[in-house]
Amino acid sequence: MTPEARLAAAIGILDRVLAGEPAEKVLTGWARSSRFAGSKDRAAIRDHVFDALRRRRSLAATGGALSGRGLILGLLRAAGTDPAAVFTGQGHAPAPLSAAEAAEGRPPRAGAEAADCPDWLWDLSGAAQDAAIRAAWEIQRDAAPAGIRVHLGRIPREALAARLEAQGIATRPDPRSPSALVAPGRPRGLVQTAEYHDGLFEMQDPGSQWVADQVPLEPGQSLLDYCAGGGGKVLAVAARVAGEFHAHDGLPRRMADLPARAARAGTPVALHQPGGRLPVCDTVLADVPCSGSGTWRRAPDAKWRLTPQDLEETIALQAQILDRAAQLVRPGGYLVQATCSLLRGENEDQAEAFLARHPDFAAQSACTRLPDALADGYFVSVFRRTA
Ligand SMILES: C[S@@+](CC[C@H](N)C(=O)[O-])C[C@H]1O[C@@H](n2cnc3c(N)ncnc32)[C@H](O)[C@@H]1O
Repeated sequence: MTPEARLAAAIGILDRVLAGEPAEKVLTGWARSSRFAGSKDRAAIRDHVFDALRRRRSLAATGGALSGRGLILGLLRAAGTDPAAVFTGQGHAPAPLSAAEAAEGRPPRAGAEAADCPDWLWDLSGAAQDAAIRAAWEIQRDAAPAGIRVHLGRIPREALAARLEAQGIATRPDPRSPSALVAPGRPRGLVQTAEYHDGLFEMQDPGSQWVADQVPLEPGQSLLDYCAGGGGKVLAVAARVAGEFHAHDGLPRRMADLPARAARAGTPVALHQPGGRLPVCDTVLADVPCSGSGTWRRAPDAKWRLTPQDLEETIALQAQILDRAAQLVRPGGYLVQATCSLLRGENEDQAEAFLARHPDFAAQSACTRLPDALADGYFVSVFRRTA
């Protein structure tokens, strides 16, 4: 495909996403029905779509319309490319610009629009008063780097970095997690390397590893990951300390990949179905469903889809999950609340409300890591069961 044909494909996909279809689903469907597209075409189109969605609001201003064409027009203008050279209508290029399209468009307004944040989230997050939060919104306008979790039991971090470097894959260590490397520029060959196939590393965001680093567990103790999903965090803890590991998820199909991943890591993890009897453990991790507002670089359409009502319902569900998870902590053990959100209502406020409902738990620590050039954003709070 020509670069122009890729942009035309991205326009069609963006129109469907703007009409309400999930981006991943539309991209997968497009790839299946477009056998002429090679892997490089699919990757480039995916990048165009995600680049446009991360900056949807500012690009709609620059491009003059919230539509597939408007966003791609905005992307080209923002990159300093003359859109008329791309919108030629020749071959499979997008149709030529209308006079209105050529005339429309303006620079985004400073604040929420330029930071590509919905107004209500800008206000709720206190962005106007807090430069760190503004930076967190700003950084989520760009793609996230690829995160690597080094299996430290099998290879030191520096040694893996050197082996990847020898294959032309540059990485840098994340100072906030001892197992984390970051590969800027999202190199696509990482999972094709012998090191990946030999289980020397997993793909995992450094912020997610930072959460796992804070899960208190002594050798031989038991951990229940109550919202395990694909098991990224329970496997990261298991790589750090030998213990007894249990996984549960309200939507068990989310754990479909966990057995294979656990086998690859050489770590037994017992899977539990909802409604079944769960073990009381030394530590229970509640990595609760959340807005995802610290990870919107990876799922940018979610940023525009979230409503205040969704958020309210999610916060209520989180409280229920924490209450249930608390019952599974042995006296003297720990409950860990984790989110990939940068919103207080899901983080500090939720932790405070939990403590008010549970006088048998005491706050041990709480920390937010805002999204930055190395990692997505997360919040972790650790409670100790005192009675
Ligand atoms: C943030 S994700 C977990 C990510 C996972 N821990 C990891 O590191 O890969 C939240 C998970 O909570 C699950 N979930 C939703 N409602 C739940 C409930 N009521 N009880 C337990 N888990 C639930 C979701 O299916 C989802 O897999």
